[in-house]
Amino acid sequence: MDKGISQAVIRRMPRYYRYLGELLEAGVERISSNELSARMHVTASQIRQDLNNFGGFGQQGYGYNVQYLYDEIGHILGLNEMHNMIIIGAGNLGQAIANYVKFEKLGFRVVGLFDINPALEGKEVRGIPVMMLDVLPEFVKDHQVDIAALTLPKENAETTAVMLSTLGVNAIWNFAHVDLDNVDGMIVENVHLSDSLMQLSYSIANKKNK
Ligand code: NAI
Repeated sequence: MDKGISQAVIRRMPRYYRYLGELLEAGVERISSNELSARMHVTASQIRQDLNNFGGFGQQGYGYNVQYLYDEIGHILGLNEMHNMIIIGAGNLGQAIANYVKFEKLGFRVVGLFDINPALEGKEVRGIPVMMLDVLPEFVKDHQVDIAALTLPKENAETTAVMLSTLGVNAIWNFAHVDLDNVDGMIVENVHLSDSLMQLSYSIANKKNK
């Protein structure tokens, strides 16, 4: 759903979704932007501005209906649909992701794990057997695959992305340390934990220098 909303706003949505989910679990039905602001350490005006992009959802003096807001943001993020995900590269990181059940709660279901190392063939991770990469075309024919997580060495990332594109898998959750911007029509989300770590290092260094 593209309503011309800025990427910066979209990037903040998952955090709203997470907080609202926690409020729901705690049985909170309504919340004012001031209360949400105090919890999230974001200014109330930022919250109002962000949510106004989507029509607001709030009533003056009455606050936000938590369930409604949660569902709407879920819709905006496409979380009302199940996404089938395969993982390519069944090493440390691939297996860790496959083992993490919480993604399924958000609607991301791991349906296949692929590798090129024959020693891993048939090894099960949370009941999902590792398959060899050469059966991927057959697998994609028989199964709906919406997302491929790439957890393989960067040297093999681009050829894998091109192969996925020819197989009709057009979204990549990319953990390999390489930009995959030049694969036609591919939607790519890069995740680099080391960027976050460097950010932390910067904050530590800055605190020391104060
Ligand atoms: P690993 O060596 O444990 O696993 C990599 C797996 O990919 C191996 O099992 C290997 O056989 C397989 N593989 C190699 N080429 C393949 C291909 N063409 N198709 C399918 N499988 C293939 O490595 P680890 O620790 O799991 O890391 C995986 C990748 O993720 C590395 O590139 C690493 O740099 C990166 N990484 C990225 C992070 C991030 O925050 N973005 C954090 C940690 C690792």
